[in-house]
Amino acid sequence: MTLNRRTFIQSTVAGSAAAAAKPALASPTKNRNSRKSEKPIFVATWEFGVKACIKAVEVAGQGSMLDAIEQGIWVTEADVKNASVGIGGTPNADGQVELDACIMSGPGHQAGSVGAIQDILHPISVARLVMEKTPHVMLVGDGARQFAIKHGLTTTQLLTDKKKHEWLAWQKKQRSLEVDEDHHDTIAMLGLDTNGNLFGGCSTSGWGYKIPGRVGDSPIIGSGLYVDNTVGAAGATGLGENVMRYCGSFLVVEFMRQGLSPTDACQKTIERINELDPLGLGDLALNFVALNKRGEYGAAGTNKGFKYAWATEKDSGINSARSLSEMKIGSDRERGRNM
Ligand code: GLY
Repeated sequence: MTLNRRTFIQSTVAGSAAAAAKPALASPTKNRNSRKSEKPIFVATWEFGVKACIKAVEVAGQGSMLDAIEQGIWVTEADVKNASVGIGGTPNADGQVELDACIMSGPGHQAGSVGAIQDILHPISVARLVMEKTPHVMLVGDGARQFAIKHGLTTTQLLTDKKKHEWLAWQKKQRSLEVDEDHHDTIAMLGLDTNGNLFGGCSTSGWGYKIPGRVGDSPIIGSGLYVDNTVGAAGATGLGENVMRYCGSFLVVEFMRQGLSPTDACQKTIERINELDPLGLGDLALNFVALNKRGEYGAAGTNKGFKYAWATEKDSGINSARSLSEMKIGSDRERGRNM
C-alpha cells in the first residue's frame, strides 16, 4: 500500500493559537452544560470511564490523587472487553498490541508518558514511573518496555485470542488502515482534589492495525492530555492524528483560561480545528472532556453519542457531551466510529 499523508488520512476518515495567557478563571462561567461538583471529582471519557472514576474516588479516599488516577485507569486497561485500551486492544498491522499512555500532576507541572510500549499491562504505571523516576517526559518502544521491566513490572500477553483471530482475518481480507469499529475508545481521566489541585491520565491501544511504531495523541502532553494547575485540565479521545496536529487538549485549557466554561472550551477547540483543517475532510473524530479549577466540568465531541463519566464520593454518572448539532460545524463531520 502506498501511503502519503493525505491518502493515509483519507483512507481512514473519508466517508466518514493558544490565546494570550491571563492568570484567569476569575469570573464564574454560566453555562447550562457546566456542572459544578463537590471535591474530589473525577471525570473521564466514555461510558466505561464511570468504573474508572468510581475506583479513582475510592483510591483518593485512602491515597494520593496520582494513585487515584493511576488505579482508576488500571480498571480500563485490565478490561479485556475494551478493544481500544490495554489488554484486549486491537493490535498493530504486525499483530502486536502497542500501548500509549501519559499522566500529569498539576502541582509541580510534572508529566510522564510512554508510546508504542508492548507487553506491559499497565502503561499508565510506566508513564508515572517515567514522571517520578527519571528526568525525562517520554519513553517509547522497547526502551519503555525495558524501563518498565527494570522497575519491576512483569510482561503480559496483551493479544487476546479474539483479537488474534480478528487480526488474522484482517490480514487475509483487508490489510488497510481501518479505524476500529468497536465502540470502545481511549480513556482520558481528569481529577480535582479537595485543595483545588488538578491531575490527569490517558491510556489507549490506539488505531487498530496501525503501522507498527505509530504513536497517537494520547501520550503527547498537550494533545491527548493537558493539566494546568492554575486553570484546568482537558483530555481527548478520537482520531489522534487530528488532535495532535492542533495540540487539542492544550487549546481547551487555554480557552478555559480565557473564561470559557469547560463545555464551551471543548466546543471552541473543535470549531477552531474545523476552521483550520486544510484537508476539508468529512469527519475529524474529535472529542474532548474538561474540568476547571472550580470543579466545573463538561465535554463536546463530533462522535455521534459521545458520552463522558464522572464520580464523586456521593454520586457518579454518565452524561452526554455537547454534540455536533450544537456546534458551528456541518453535520457531515459526524460519524459513529471511534478510537
Ligand atoms: N486517540 C487515540 C489514538 O488516536 O491513538
